[in-house]
Amino acid sequence: MVFVHIPRRKKNILGGIFIVVCLYWVLLQRALFKDRLTNGVNHFCLQSLERLEERPVKWPTIPEPNGRIGDDVIETLLDLRDYEKCVMFNPALDYDRLKIVQKGLFPYLNLDLLYADEKKFWPVYSRWDGQSVQGFMPRFSEDENKFLGFSKIKYDQRLSFWGNWHRNIMQPASRGIVISAGAGQVEDCARLVKVLRHLGNRLPIEIVHRGDLSVDEQRQIFQISTEEASSHFPAQDLWFLDVSSMLNPVYAKRFKSFSNKWLAVVFSTFQNPVLLDADTIPFTSLDLYYNFHQFKTTGAVFFKDRKVNSDLLDKEQLDTLKRIFLNLTDITPIENESTESMKDKLKASFNDDIAAETVYNMIVKGQKHHMESGLVLIDKTQHLTNLLASIALQFSSVSGYFHGDKEWFWIAQALQKQSFTLHPKEASNVGKLGRVVSDEKGEFYQLCSVQLSHTDVDGSLLWVNGGLRTCKKDSWTSDYRDNRRISSMFDSEEAVREYYQSPVQLEAAIIPDAEIKPWIMTGECAMFTYCTLYREGEFGEVIKFNETQKNAYREIVRVWNSVIHSTEGPSSVI
Ligand SMILES: *[C@@H]1O[C@H](CO)[C@@H](O)[C@H](O)[C@H]1NC(C)=O
Ligand SMILES: *[C@@H]1O[C@H](CO)[C@@H](O)[C@H](O)[C@H]1NC(C)=O
Ligand SMILES: *[C@@H]1O[C@H](CO)[C@@H](O)[C@H](O)[C@H]1NC(C)=O
Repeated sequence: MVFVHIPRRKKNILGGIFIVVCLYWVLLQRALFKDRLTNGVNHFCLQSLERLEERPVKWPTIPEPNGRIGDDVIETLLDLRDYEKCVMFNPALDYDRLKIVQKGLFPYLNLDLLYADEKKFWPVYSRWDGQSVQGFMPRFSEDENKFLGFSKIKYDQRLSFWGNWHRNIMQPASRGIVISAGAGQVEDCARLVKVLRHLGNRLPIEIVHRGDLSVDEQRQIFQISTEEASSHFPAQDLWFLDVSSMLNPVYAKRFKSFSNKWLAVVFSTFQNPVLLDADTIPFTSLDLYYNFHQFKTTGAVFFKDRKVNSDLLDKEQLDTLKRIFLNLTDITPIENESTESMKDKLKASFNDDIAAETVYNMIVKGQKHHMESGLVLIDKTQHLTNLLASIALQFSSVSGYFHGDKEWFWIAQALQKQSFTLHPKEASNVGKLGRVVSDEKGEFYQLCSVQLSHTDVDGSLLWVNGGLRTCKKDSWTSDYRDNRRISSMFDSEEAVREYYQSPVQLEAAIIPDAEIKPWIMTGECAMFTYCTLYREGEFGEVIKFNETQKNAYREIVRVWNSVIHSTEGPSSVI
């Protein structure tokens, strides 16, 4: 060992130099960091960031008594645009600032838990074969969507939450079915799974819930998805995702019923999920939708709702929506503008006739029913921020303007200036075709049913909403007592019950002419039944299914209605 003697004075000098070098190094690093920050984030973003940091944590965003309805929507959607531009994929943000910005914009996320104990934050994935993991994601093969195994979730603390979700967590190009279900929808869910088996589905299925499906209920659906498997009735790769840990406990309950769908679509692992309501019934393989032209051009498949001209927005609602639309899009109306000129502007803006028509029907005609969201396909790499905008709209001052979640999918896209469209075919009424002949008026058809259907351009049935029994509600007692049409048609409450519980007969669909003979509510089935009329060459459109189609549809109706067996014995029959 060599011992070098350094006099005390020299030691002091060396120490001083060391401290100066350290100080210089620290200052240099800070300057470099600042440089990186200002290089990565332009002037616009520096301003946006300051604004986003100041944003009050408020959710839902209902304005103060002195605030204006709708202003919260404009502000939040603009903030989301800035978030996408300046925060989402920005790796040069300060950790604490990032935290503040995200807690302000997404108060419903349980970010405190994410920062404190990351592993406990992630959803619990439970597979039909008993595997259950947290902090890992299932991975599926690219060609056949087959389960390959788990990979650990890699959360990059320097990146935003949604940036992580987009880049590091969602599996690129993955496909699968997502069902939103809560307590009370277990039976519908089980029936849907049986139909998917009957259709030979090979896509993995995720059922997303907030911890409100019991282990027993999950076991029942697992069993229904795997029992008596054959090549004609394949077992399903079914998963439950409990996302309750990801939600701020203060707000988690607000995601009840239809709001749960936003959690399902956003938090499903698939990049391209087909989102199904529990009471939706597909009549074709769901692979079909991935080949739709509209999916390739807009990254989404949306369907139209019943065309209803009578249920309109009131004046205040209409003014508010118009103000929001004109503020967020580049459309500027001129005074006393003609219909044609306005339509042309919308066409130029959205580059799609159906999109232009839909926006026109809402902000000019004040119509409330545009989209039916029982089946939606969406590419989350293209539309993640739009889905976050949909959630913002669902929990905003205008959330009550429309029923449930259904319109917020397309409205968010339109407001964020994204192209969108709806499947061209109008929604239809499906069931048994009644031929009515009257002396003065000649011959016409009537069709009354609870089921809303969607047909393809070739006339085949794509999917139906509202289950496949005659009436989805157990309302025979009150309907027999209160509805004169029902009490005149049936001898007893028991007869109404039998009729309501019988399987539907799918013979034809009618697309009514909303201008001449619109959808008529009859009061049957707790007000869920609609009647529609068709007369050749005068109003409406009728689609009669051919024998091949009728036989295939009858089988699906049978499968959906069949008793839900369980091999565990009668005690576990749902
Ligand atoms: C849009 O709305 C915001 C917030 O209410 C307002 O400050 C802004 O002036 C509006 N812009 C236009 C073009 O109307
Ligand atoms: C728009 O119409 C109103 C009422 O018909 C009229 O008073 C006004 O002068 C018109 N404005 C323009 C710019 O034509
Ligand atoms: C029934 O209609 C479908 C769809 O239009 C068609 O593909 C099929 O060939 C038809 N079958 C018969 C037997 O007409």
